[in-house]
Amino acid sequence: MNSDSREGLKRRAAERAVELIEPGMVVGLGVGSTAIHAVRRIAALLKMGELRDIVGVACADSVEREARDLGIPLTTLDECGTVDLTIDGADEVDPEFNLIKGGGGALLREKMVAQASRREVIVVDSSKLSPALGSRFPLPLEVIAFGAQATARFVASLGAQVAFRLTSSGAFFRTDQGNYILDCAFGPIDDLERLAFALERRAGIVEHGLFLDLVTDLIIAGEDGVRHLRANSSPREAPCSSRGKPAR
Ligand code: A5P
Repeated sequence: MNSDSREGLKRRAAERAVELIEPGMVVGLGVGSTAIHAVRRIAALLKMGELRDIVGVACADSVEREARDLGIPLTTLDECGTVDLTIDGADEVDPEFNLIKGGGGALLREKMVAQASRREVIVVDSSKLSPALGSRFPLPLEVIAFGAQATARFVASLGAQVAFRLTSSGAFFRTDQGNYILDCAFGPIDDLERLAFALERRAGIVEHGLFLDLVTDLIIAGEDGVRHLRANSSPREAPCSSRGKPAR
Protein backbone atom coordinates (compact mmCIF):
# COMPACT_ATOMS: atom_id res chain seq x y z
CA MET A 1 0.00 0.00 0.00
CA ASN A 2 1.46 3.41 -0.90
CA SER A 3 1.60 6.21 1.65
CA ASP A 4 -1.14 8.24 -0.07
CA SER A 5 -3.66 5.45 0.18
CA ARG A 6 -2.65 4.70 3.78
CA GLU A 7 -3.16 8.38 4.62
CA GLY A 8 -6.58 8.17 2.99
CA LEU A 9 -7.51 5.18 5.17
CA LYS A 10 -6.44 7.04 8.32
CA ARG A 11 -8.56 10.00 7.30
CA ARG A 12 -11.60 7.84 6.56
CA ALA A 13 -11.38 6.07 9.93
CA ALA A 14 -11.02 9.37 11.79
CA GLU A 15 -13.84 11.06 9.92
CA ARG A 16 -16.17 8.14 10.63
CA ALA A 17 -15.45 8.59 14.33
CA VAL A 18 -16.30 12.28 14.16
CA GLU A 19 -19.83 11.30 13.07
CA LEU A 20 -20.33 9.97 16.63
CA ILE A 21 -19.91 13.45 18.15
CA GLU A 22 -23.11 15.14 19.34
CA PRO A 23 -23.76 18.75 20.39
CA GLY A 24 -22.90 19.40 24.03
CA MET A 25 -20.15 16.79 24.21
CA VAL A 26 -16.73 17.06 25.80
CA VAL A 27 -14.46 15.42 23.21
CA GLY A 28 -11.02 13.95 23.87
CA LEU A 29 -8.58 14.85 21.09
CA GLY A 30 -6.02 12.10 20.61
CA VAL A 31 -2.51 12.21 19.22
CA GLY A 32 -0.90 10.97 16.03
CA SER A 33 -1.22 11.02 12.28
CA THR A 34 -4.64 9.29 12.35
CA ALA A 35 -6.30 11.17 15.22
CA ILE A 36 -5.22 14.52 13.79
CA HIS A 37 -7.63 13.96 10.91
CA ALA A 38 -10.44 13.93 13.49
CA VAL A 39 -9.24 17.24 14.94
CA ARG A 40 -9.21 18.81 11.49
CA ARG A 41 -12.64 17.43 10.62
CA ILE A 42 -14.12 18.70 13.90
CA ALA A 43 -12.69 22.15 13.18
CA ALA A 44 -14.12 22.13 9.65
CA LEU A 45 -17.58 21.09 10.87
CA LEU A 46 -17.55 23.78 13.57
CA LYS A 47 -16.59 26.36 10.98
CA MET A 48 -19.39 25.26 8.62
CA GLY A 49 -21.89 25.30 11.50
CA GLU A 50 -22.55 21.58 11.10
CA LEU A 51 -21.29 20.86 14.61
CA ARG A 52 -21.82 23.11 17.60
CA ASP A 53 -21.46 23.39 21.32
CA ILE A 54 -18.58 20.98 21.78
CA VAL A 55 -15.40 21.44 23.74
CA GLY A 56 -12.14 19.53 23.34
CA VAL A 57 -9.60 18.06 25.77
CA ALA A 58 -6.22 17.68 24.07
CA CYS A 59 -4.01 14.68 24.90
CA ALA A 60 -0.75 16.49 24.03
CA ASP A 61 0.62 20.00 23.90
CA SER A 62 1.05 19.70 20.11
CA VAL A 63 -2.61 18.77 19.68
CA GLU A 64 -3.66 21.60 21.97
CA ARG A 65 -1.74 24.07 19.80
CA GLU A 66 -3.22 22.75 16.56
CA ALA A 67 -6.77 22.60 17.95
CA ARG A 68 -6.49 26.15 19.26
CA ASP A 69 -5.11 27.39 15.92
CA LEU A 70 -8.06 25.72 14.17
CA GLY A 71 -10.56 27.42 16.49
CA ILE A 72 -11.76 24.41 18.52
CA PRO A 73 -12.88 25.52 22.01
CA LEU A 74 -10.80 23.72 24.63
CA THR A 75 -11.10 22.75 28.25
CA THR A 76 -8.86 20.72 30.55
CA LEU A 77 -9.28 17.34 32.21
CA ASP A 78 -9.20 19.14 35.55
CA GLU A 79 -12.12 21.35 34.54
CA CYS A 80 -14.37 18.74 32.95
CA GLY A 81 -13.50 15.62 34.97
CA THR A 82 -15.34 13.35 32.56
CA VAL A 83 -14.99 13.17 28.79
CA ASP A 84 -17.96 12.04 26.71
CA LEU A 85 -16.09 10.64 23.74
CA THR A 86 -12.41 10.43 22.85
CA ILE A 87 -11.04 9.78 19.37
CA ASP A 88 -7.49 8.45 19.41
CA GLY A 89 -5.15 6.30 17.34
CA ALA A 90 -3.14 3.20 18.26
CA ASP A 91 0.08 1.51 17.23
CA GLU A 92 -1.15 -2.07 17.55
CA VAL A 93 -4.59 -3.55 18.22
CA ASP A 94 -5.29 -7.15 19.25
CA PRO A 95 -8.50 -9.14 18.71
CA GLU A 96 -9.69 -8.27 22.25
CA PHE A 97 -9.41 -4.51 21.53
CA ASN A 98 -6.30 -4.19 23.70
CA LEU A 99 -3.76 -1.68 22.42
CA ILE A 100 -0.17 -0.62 22.34
CA LYS A 101 0.01 3.16 22.29
CA GLY A 102 2.73 5.73 22.72
CA GLY A 103 4.37 5.87 19.31
CA GLY A 104 4.02 9.63 19.58
CA GLY A 105 5.17 9.67 23.19
CA ALA A 106 1.83 10.87 24.59
CA LEU A 107 0.76 7.64 26.31
CA LEU A 108 0.41 9.08 29.81
CA ARG A 109 -2.04 11.84 28.94
CA GLU A 110 -3.77 9.58 26.42
CA LYS A 111 -4.37 6.97 29.11
CA MET A 112 -5.58 9.55 31.63
CA VAL A 113 -8.07 10.89 29.10
CA ALA A 114 -9.10 7.35 28.07
CA GLN A 115 -9.76 6.39 31.69
CA ALA A 116 -11.90 9.52 32.10
CA SER A 117 -13.87 8.84 28.90
CA ARG A 118 -17.32 7.29 28.64
CA ARG A 119 -16.50 6.25 25.12
CA GLU A 120 -12.98 5.56 23.84
CA VAL A 121 -13.07 5.39 20.06
CA ILE A 122 -9.88 4.08 18.47
CA VAL A 123 -9.27 4.85 14.80
CA VAL A 124 -6.77 2.81 12.79
CA ASP A 125 -5.98 1.59 9.33
CA SER A 126 -5.97 -2.17 9.01
CA SER A 127 -2.16 -2.42 9.19
CA LYS A 128 -2.44 -1.89 12.98
CA LEU A 129 -4.32 -5.15 13.58
CA SER A 130 -2.26 -7.85 15.24
CA PRO A 131 -2.86 -11.35 16.61
CA ALA A 132 -0.78 -10.55 19.72
CA LEU A 133 0.44 -7.21 21.07
CA GLY A 134 4.18 -6.80 20.80
CA SER A 135 4.38 -8.67 17.49
CA ARG A 136 4.65 -5.51 15.44
CA PHE A 137 5.51 -2.63 17.72
CA PRO A 138 7.81 -2.15 20.72
CA LEU A 139 6.02 -1.23 23.93
CA PRO A 140 6.71 2.41 24.90
CA LEU A 141 7.30 3.22 28.56
CA GLU A 142 7.49 6.72 30.00
CA VAL A 143 10.23 6.75 32.65
CA ILE A 144 11.73 9.47 34.81
CA ALA A 145 15.31 10.54 34.09
CA PHE A 146 16.55 9.60 37.57
CA GLY A 147 17.85 6.05 37.36
CA ALA A 148 16.66 5.65 33.79
CA GLN A 149 19.52 3.29 32.86
CA ALA A 150 18.67 1.13 35.87
CA THR A 151 15.01 1.18 34.88
CA ALA A 152 16.01 0.09 31.37
CA ARG A 153 18.00 -2.84 32.83
CA PHE A 154 15.00 -3.86 34.92
CA VAL A 155 12.75 -3.90 31.84
CA ALA A 156 15.40 -5.89 29.94
CA SER A 157 15.30 -8.45 32.77
CA LEU A 158 11.61 -8.96 31.93
CA GLY A 159 12.62 -10.12 28.46
CA ALA A 160 12.64 -6.98 26.30
CA GLN A 161 15.22 -5.42 24.06
CA VAL A 162 15.19 -1.85 25.34
CA ALA A 163 16.12 1.35 23.52
CA PHE A 164 15.94 4.96 24.68
CA ARG A 165 13.87 6.92 22.18
CA LEU A 166 15.91 9.62 20.48
CA THR A 167 14.93 12.64 18.43
CA SER A 168 16.06 13.05 14.82
CA SER A 169 19.02 15.10 16.10
CA GLY A 170 20.11 12.27 18.41
CA ALA A 171 19.00 13.89 21.68
CA PHE A 172 16.88 12.02 24.21
CA PHE A 173 13.20 12.35 23.32
CA ARG A 174 11.34 14.14 26.11
CA THR A 175 7.61 13.78 26.76
CA ASP A 176 5.30 16.70 27.54
CA GLN A 177 6.13 15.95 31.19
CA GLY A 178 9.90 16.09 30.50
CA ASN A 179 10.40 12.33 30.92
CA TYR A 180 12.17 9.76 28.70
CA ILE A 181 10.59 7.06 26.57
CA LEU A 182 11.95 3.51 26.50
CA ASP A 183 10.89 1.47 23.48
CA CYS A 184 10.76 -2.13 24.66
CA ALA A 185 10.63 -4.94 22.10
CA PHE A 186 9.12 -7.91 23.92
CA GLY A 187 7.94 -9.80 20.87
CA PRO A 188 4.42 -11.25 21.16
CA ILE A 189 3.28 -10.70 24.77
CA ASP A 190 1.48 -13.78 26.09
CA ASP A 191 0.24 -12.37 29.42
CA LEU A 192 -0.68 -8.69 29.09
CA GLU A 193 -2.09 -8.28 32.60
CA ARG A 194 0.99 -9.81 34.19
CA LEU A 195 3.37 -7.59 32.25
CA ALA A 196 1.25 -4.50 33.00
CA PHE A 197 1.31 -5.36 36.70
CA ALA A 198 5.08 -5.84 36.74
CA LEU A 199 5.61 -2.49 35.04
CA GLU A 200 3.10 -0.65 37.21
CA ARG A 201 4.72 -1.75 40.47
CA ARG A 202 8.21 -0.56 39.45
CA ALA A 203 9.05 2.94 40.70
CA GLY A 204 10.54 5.10 37.97
CA ILE A 205 8.14 3.83 35.32
CA VAL A 206 5.54 6.57 35.06
CA GLU A 207 3.25 4.75 32.61
CA HIS A 208 3.31 1.99 30.00
CA GLY A 209 1.66 1.90 26.61
CA LEU A 210 -0.56 -1.14 27.22
CA PHE A 211 -4.18 0.02 27.05
CA LEU A 212 -6.14 -2.93 28.43
CA ASP A 213 -9.95 -3.04 28.59
CA LEU A 214 -10.32 0.66 27.78
CA VAL A 215 -11.65 0.68 24.22
CA THR A 216 -15.39 0.91 23.61
CA ASP A 217 -15.31 1.38 19.82
CA LEU A 218 -12.82 0.39 17.16
CA ILE A 219 -13.00 1.95 13.70
CA ILE A 220 -10.83 0.21 11.13
CA ALA A 221 -10.31 1.51 7.60
CA GLY A 222 -9.08 -0.98 5.03
CA GLU A 223 -9.05 -1.37 1.26
CA ASP A 224 -12.49 -3.02 1.58
CA GLY A 225 -14.10 -0.14 3.49
CA VAL A 226 -14.57 1.16 7.01
CA ARG A 227 -15.71 -1.14 9.83
CA HIS A 228 -17.05 0.04 13.18
CA LEU A 229 -16.75 -2.61 15.91
CA ARG A 230 -18.21 -2.02 19.34
CA ALA A 231 -17.38 -3.57 22.67
CA ASN A 232 -20.25 -5.31 24.47
CA SER A 233 -21.22 -2.74 27.07
CA SER A 234 -20.08 0.47 25.39
CA PRO A 235 -20.55 3.29 26.15
CA ARG A 236 -19.32 2.86 29.69
CA GLU A 237 -21.88 4.03 32.20
CA ALA A 238 -19.22 5.64 34.31
CA PRO A 239 -15.59 6.36 33.59
CA CYS A 240 -13.19 3.59 34.63
CA SER A 241 -15.97 1.02 35.10
CA SER A 242 -15.14 -2.52 34.00
CA ARG A 243 -16.81 -4.05 31.00
CA GLY A 244 -17.09 -7.38 29.28
CA LYS A 245 -15.21 -8.63 26.26
CA PRO A 246 -16.06 -7.19 22.87
CA ALA A 247 -18.79 -8.64 20.69
CA ARG A 248 -17.30 -9.78 17.39
C1 A5P B 1 0.68 8.77 20.52
O1 A5P B 1 1.45 8.70 21.66
C2 A5P B 1 0.24 7.42 20.11
O2 A5P B 1 -0.38 6.67 21.10
C3 A5P B 1 -0.59 7.45 18.83
O3 A5P B 1 -1.95 7.49 19.12
C4 A5P B 1 -0.25 6.24 18.08
O4 A5P B 1 1.16 6.22 17.97
C5 A5P B 1 -0.88 6.19 16.70
O5 A5P B 1 -0.29 7.12 15.86
P1 A5P B 1 -0.52 7.12 14.32
O6 A5P B 1 -1.96 7.34 14.09
O7 A5P B 1 0.35 8.25 13.83
O8 A5P B 1 -0.03 5.79 13.79
